Amino acid sequence: MRERIGILCSGGDAPGMNAAIRAVVRTALYLGYEPIGIYRGYEGLIAGQLEPLGAGSVSGIIQRGGAILGAGRSPRFHSPEGRAQAYIHLKTHHITRLVVIGGDGTFRGAQTFLEEYPDLQILGLPGTIDNDLYGTDATIGFDTAVNIAVEAIDRLRDTAAAMGRLFLVEVMGRDAGFIALHTAAASGAEAVLVPETPTDFDAIVSVLERGWQRQKTSAIIVVAEGDEAGNIVQIAAELQKRFTQYDIRTTVLGHIQRGGNPTAQDRILASLLGMQAVYRLHEGASGAMVGIQKNEIVLTPFYKAVKMHGALNPLLLKLVEILSL
Ligand code: F6P
Repeated sequence: MRERIGILCSGGDAPGMNAAIRAVVRTALYLGYEPIGIYRGYEGLIAGQLEPLGAGSVSGIIQRGGAILGAGRSPRFHSPEGRAQAYIHLKTHHITRLVVIGGDGTFRGAQTFLEEYPDLQILGLPGTIDNDLYGTDATIGFDTAVNIAVEAIDRLRDTAAAMGRLFLVEVMGRDAGFIALHTAAASGAEAVLVPETPTDFDAIVSVLERGWQRQKTSAIIVVAEGDEAGNIVQIAAELQKRFTQYDIRTTVLGHIQRGGNPTAQDRILASLLGMQAVYRLHEGASGAMVGIQKNEIVLTPFYKAVKMHGALNPLLLKLVEILSL
């Protein structure tokens, strides 16, 4: 019997997860393993929802958003009983190696699982739109989410300019500002509010006043969902109090950012990391996230990948400020 590698997606889905699944399955086959798909993340592992995947079962998915295996969070995996059940299913199906695709909850779960069952071998792939993991220049899905947000803002800019309005646009990112900052830089936003820096309403009002004086017909402010100044409605109310010239509208992009075809960059990232995860499992690695830094594949222990994340690029913050003139 061929040795088996299990694969699952956990947490929120991210565009590019399918490309990663395809890469893991086909590399596993290439190296002589039997790939086993586990449905609905850790929840499906607890429930025993597993099935072998052939090369054909991942045909035509590199361009698809979502995750063919399903994703999701599993409260049951937080308990030792849930993890014991998951372990039994792995043993029954003769799986000792696993690739888990997800974000920090996924890796925390994998870390605990490994501490309890050290005979397992688990590697993680950074699959989250938030880009909030340490040890990789980008996470799978981040580039697509930013592109979706930028496209939406291009559309909002048209109506904002026609109507002479200020739009506040909320993007996802949980408690990190990467999506917001990159979206703001690429869409020419007048300002960006991120959780990593304190929100300075006076500074935003000066930017708006400067624009108003030179007859700017619209303004766009990108707000990260986790901004410390409050939610988008509270921020809009505060700004409207201080600056009455523009009529303000708010738009929450929400889960739209998670759907649709992954960009070429995300497909390549997912495929490369998926391929590498299988090679590294084959070589005996475990307990780490497979990321990429400056074109090098880097393994970062789970506990470190989730403990912190890279810093926002200060140059991009400055760029948004200066180019909003
Ligand atoms: O972690 C990905 C993410 O999309 C975050 O940006 C967002 O805060 C969260 O998931 C939304 O979670 P849910 O899909 O459970 O509403």
